[in-house]
Amino acid sequence: MQEIRLLAVAGSQRVGSFNQRLLDRAASLAREAGVEVTQIRLSDFPLPLYTPQAEASGFPEVASELKALFARHDGFLIASPEYNGSVSAALKNALDWVSRPTGAEEGTAFSAFRGKVAGIMSASPGPFGGIRGLQHLRQILGTLHTLVVTEQVVVPFADKAFDGDVLLDGPPAQFLPVLVRRVIQLAPISA
Ligand SMILES: Cc1cc2nc3c(=O)[nH]c(=O)nc-3n(C[C@H](O)[C@H](O)[C@H](O)COP(=O)(O)O)c2cc1C
Repeated sequence: MQEIRLLAVAGSQRVGSFNQRLLDRAASLAREAGVEVTQIRLSDFPLPLYTPQAEASGFPEVASELKALFARHDGFLIASPEYNGSVSAALKNALDWVSRPTGAEEGTAFSAFRGKVAGIMSASPGPFGGIRGLQHLRQILGTLHTLVVTEQVVVPFADKAFDGDVLLDGPPAQFLPVLVRRVIQLAPISA
């Protein structure tokens, strides 16, 4: 198989995050399929809030590092909590910083995202599992010219869906390998 590199990131920094646990399972499945996966935590990238003023006063080193990571991967596995019907502010802020042109690519938009593939997922203690936030995430990534695969996974009642870190058997556990397989199938478009 062509060498495929996926970046896995969750939009929650909460200790014990359901989304992080879901993402960890997706990353394991991708590795089992022979793909190289880099797992990062947004808490390791303490980004300032994106504003044009913050950007104008110097592109933060930590944003450059995060952008470089996105740039050197062929696709993304992203788990986002749903906050008030949308993605978490932490995830949106990270995507906003990474979307910005830097240095010689001034004027070239979305270089770290363009032509890439993403698989998206969400977990929530609520009955809808974060599906409204995923609609927004799909739209955001599409705007960045990343192809978001049709398959997606939501974990409703997430407080009862895990035994420790293990995603219990049920529809999310059954659909997750389908999502991961689809991302791996399509990721070579950018490799
Ligand atoms: C500000 C805020 C807004 C929230 N809005 C929603 C929501 O719209 N839908 C939902 O299902 N859960 C919502 N929740 C509950 C989250 O789904 C829950 O906190 C979940 O555990 C977050 O994911 P995590 O476990 O990965 O941190 C919200 C939580 C917070 C703090």
